[in-house]
Amino acid sequence: MTTSAHPDWATGRVLATTPVAAGVQRITIHRPARPAHGRAAPGSHLDVRVPIGEGTDLRSYSIVESDDEGSTLTISVLRMPQSRGGSAFMHTLAPGDELQVTQPLQNFPLNVTAPRHVLLAGGIGITALAAMAAVLRRVDADYTLVYVGRSRERMAYVDELARLHGDRLQLHVDAERTPLDVAGLVASIGSHRLGTATELYMCGPIRLMDAVRREWDTAGLPPAHLRFETFGNSGWFLPEEFVVTIPQRAVEATVRSNETILEALTRAGVDLMYDCRKGECGLCLLDVERVDGTLDHRDVFLSGAQKAAGRSISTCVSRVARTGSSTPTLSLTLP
Ligand code: FES
Repeated sequence: MTTSAHPDWATGRVLATTPVAAGVQRITIHRPARPAHGRAAPGSHLDVRVPIGEGTDLRSYSIVESDDEGSTLTISVLRMPQSRGGSAFMHTLAPGDELQVTQPLQNFPLNVTAPRHVLLAGGIGITALAAMAAVLRRVDADYTLVYVGRSRERMAYVDELARLHGDRLQLHVDAERTPLDVAGLVASIGSHRLGTATELYMCGPIRLMDAVRREWDTAGLPPAHLRFETFGNSGWFLPEEFVVTIPQRAVEATVRSNETILEALTRAGVDLMYDCRKGECGLCLLDVERVDGTLDHRDVFLSGAQKAAGRSISTCVSRVARTGSSTPTLSLTLP
């Protein structure tokens, strides 16, 4: 099993599309493996070029299944209500359509040698963890897959996962009043005889990941054993339009509900540093000078204390939400 970190773009052809849950489309793509790189490793993803307005942008989707050559790859895409072309475009794909895709890329590697694994998926986050669970089952590892969702209709692959993982699968469904007790989950990891050796892999909404990170810190479990995939997370508030200003440059831009601060400022001619565009690396952070509204931190780079202090913001994912009736406004300072 291999994956690479450097994108090699090629034309992929859609082989099949199937709905697998409400708003979730399973899409199988054939992309020539050059050179042959073997089955995509668990935790790997594809970058896809999607049309946005008159240009294109990148979207990352976890690989749910791969053939032995790593050339037939399956992803699953949740159609986002505020999509401006990314997931909406992916949902228009039909067999025979072509699109630009990378080879399998990896930034969420699985350490199969850990003595114990807990995999935690929230909603569509299951796509990042399903392949990991399959590998752990195959190598007879000690693992538990915890899958959290609002309702079964919206949770992809539930039956398939139940068949494959039996009682290693723990389902928590809001509509069935079986929500996840995050503190209880982390406490059960801490009190297990392999507690400090257990690795927790998670992918899901920022609220869930923030809560787990808080409990993990409180329990004193090793930070390096908490691993996550974000894919530019959903936040605490619904995205809405707001105004961003940079007084030192006399710049003012409107951040539309379906774009990021980084995109709005770039459109306004401001040159900013960034890398991951998923709220993980911290390269796009700017200092907050003033905010009229509530900061909606959606990154996993800043600590809880830094987010509460509100002195900086990750411009690639975080936003501002309305607190009163006036348009939310954010003033930033360039370094
Ligand atoms: S570019 Fe990495 S956190 Fe924004």
